[in-house]
Amino acid sequence: MTVPVPLSAPIQSQTPAIQTGVGAAVPRIDGPLKVTGRARYTSDRRFPDMLIGVPVCATIAHGVIRSIDTAAAAAMPGVHVIYTHDNIGRFYHINPGSGVKTDEKRPPLEDATIRYYGQYVALVMADTFEQASAAAAAIRVDYRQDPHEVGKHLATDAQPKTDSERGDPAAIFATAPVRIDETYTTPVETHNPIELHASVALYDGATRSFTLYETSQAIVNHRGVMSQMLGVPVENMRIITEYLGSGFGGKLWPWGHSLLAAQAARHLRRPVKLVISRAMMFHNVGHRTNTQQRVRVAATNAGKLLSLQQDYLFHVAQMEASVEHCGEATAYLYDTEHLRVTGAPVKRHIAPNTSMRGPGAVPGLFATESAMDELAVRLNIDPVQLRLLNEPASDQSISAPFSSRHLREALLTGASRFGWERRNPQVGSMQDGDEILGWGVAACSWMAKRLGAEATVTLGSDGAARVSSAVQDIGTGTYTVVSQMVAQATGIPMAKVIVAIGDTRLPPGPMSGGSMATASMVPAVAQAARSAMQQVLAVASQHERSPFRGVGADALAFTDGQVHRRDQASRSGVPFAEILAAAQLSGVDGKGKSGPSGEDPGAKNISIHSYGAHFVEVRWQPDIARLRVSRVVTVIDAGRIINPRTGRNQIEGAVLMGIGMALFEQTRYDARNGKPVNNNLADYVMPTHADSPDIDVVFLDYPDTALDELGARGIGEIGIAGLAPAVTAAVYHATGMRVRNLPVDIEDLLKVPYRYRA
Ligand code: MOS
Repeated sequence: MTVPVPLSAPIQSQTPAIQTGVGAAVPRIDGPLKVTGRARYTSDRRFPDMLIGVPVCATIAHGVIRSIDTAAAAAMPGVHVIYTHDNIGRFYHINPGSGVKTDEKRPPLEDATIRYYGQYVALVMADTFEQASAAAAAIRVDYRQDPHEVGKHLATDAQPKTDSERGDPAAIFATAPVRIDETYTTPVETHNPIELHASVALYDGATRSFTLYETSQAIVNHRGVMSQMLGVPVENMRIITEYLGSGFGGKLWPWGHSLLAAQAARHLRRPVKLVISRAMMFHNVGHRTNTQQRVRVAATNAGKLLSLQQDYLFHVAQMEASVEHCGEATAYLYDTEHLRVTGAPVKRHIAPNTSMRGPGAVPGLFATESAMDELAVRLNIDPVQLRLLNEPASDQSISAPFSSRHLREALLTGASRFGWERRNPQVGSMQDGDEILGWGVAACSWMAKRLGAEATVTLGSDGAARVSSAVQDIGTGTYTVVSQMVAQATGIPMAKVIVAIGDTRLPPGPMSGGSMATASMVPAVAQAARSAMQQVLAVASQHERSPFRGVGADALAFTDGQVHRRDQASRSGVPFAEILAAAQLSGVDGKGKSGPSGEDPGAKNISIHSYGAHFVEVRWQPDIARLRVSRVVTVIDAGRIINPRTGRNQIEGAVLMGIGMALFEQTRYDARNGKPVNNNLADYVMPTHADSPDIDVVFLDYPDTALDELGARGIGEIGIAGLAPAVTAAVYHATGMRVRNLPVDIEDLLKVPYRYRA
């Protein structure tokens, strides 16, 4: 049966934009579609004859399936088929040399071995979600249980991998006048975007092709993984993600439910929808691994760093290892000649881990920035001052200059806006009624890179500019900033820019991850726009019905959508649409293509990163052991900000997520069976409006043209980096309790010394 496949819908700004182009705080162009319910999310898709899939998950952490009793379930109303490892059919593995990525390479239902609680053991296909759920609950699985390990404490005999090394930090540390040697831990955190992971799979048997509606932050990679694992040519695989209810990294790489939905659609020749449950979000689609990091800092009595060592461990699943690079920001953040960063994974019977907003650097900076605060306290040096004292002149990890680094200005600007000069460093000294104020600071950094990208800009005889690329908007504002890029390059107002993204039929775009989507799009869109404008000028110069016929294209210009003689004002010109209409052209396509920043000439000789500083106020009510974050000032140095409105929103959200990391979030595993016990939104505590402080976001806005012509670096993750250590520094300042194991628990605060409690 051939299923009708609707086109994905390009969108354009609904408001006649007064301000357009780069740097304008324009509202999201997809906003009206979202707030009126017209934006179609993956699980909103429905098709005639669609079947619903509900998976069954293992209830042990380690063992082997002895038998699966599906008889009762199969007889229930509406049930079409029940898949297990016996009848799901073949999935292939990905070719590691092909450049596609997934954090769970073992396909679902591949064998009878259980390696983590929640692993898929069966899939029910039924007419309705209720029927499928009831049947899934009626399936009985008999297991042989084997010993498992899901504990938090990490240790390994394996040789750790050295991420970065210079000088002789161990020798320097041994004889240094001032030494900090502490271990910090961060717990498992689970991505909890509002939108559940979902897949709606269509299969056309006549052409052996799939159309998969997915919740994906990286549709091009998703297409590659699905085509390899399902064994169809890549051109027979189409992925569509029109809107995403956020992802935080959990939707970067494909997960097993997508394969299950696609395989069922192929077997049954019916459309299939599979939406995973909130509980499954805790074990089938990744998490931020827990980390355990020993940090050793040596310094002079005056606060000059002498050496820095960071040795981190993180847990991984039995068959997979997504590396958590906790030393990501360590090797270049401060000036020290002696440094070593090492890391090693430790296997657990826990589901595969994956990227979560600011992977590596975010838990890493909790450890290193906490150690900096401890050093400041030890030396009785102001923590802002300590960081200024150790500002490096260049990136010592790669012996290269910084492209654009304004950490010093971020710290000083933040201190001034926060009122830091009023801070009394003595613990518990700043009282306000029955509350004690704690003020803390931390620095932050995050990588800035571009991925390869292609885009097409079509200038049409209807006067519109259509830009297309298989990038996706995960809620961050990609539709809007891509529209701004076209408006900037062509002078055509955003209301006449049509943005088509989220479909792998479009020219390949970058993933929305690593804060790289925006910068990656800049050169490809600019090149495509320039090419389209040049083609219009060529038509104007050559076509017999053009008013500019005979004028050399070099003597013409394209300004604000008008074609005019270069030596005359643009108002004297002709709208580009009239030129195209006169020539009977529907439009001209300009193509743009750019490579990853790692392949730029001289890429190895420049250090490109974003920076920032967080100033946090907590309020501690000792009488009732109540702690709140009341105020945050965050100064971000992330290059040119293309849209201060969506940009600010990214930082505010990340700061709030950082408060969650500091005070609330942790996934707890039941030692008996490896079950995430708080696998729901009631028990997995995240910040709400009531926990949201006053957040003051400042962008320094220095264009960094080492990365792209607009100077934008990307802002999705920098806002959470360093936030948690600023909170725990503030908690120390208020209470005298140094919390080295996140999150800050009520139990930690009940230990606060009596003198800070009344
Ligand atoms: Mo982000 S963790 O790269 O989606």
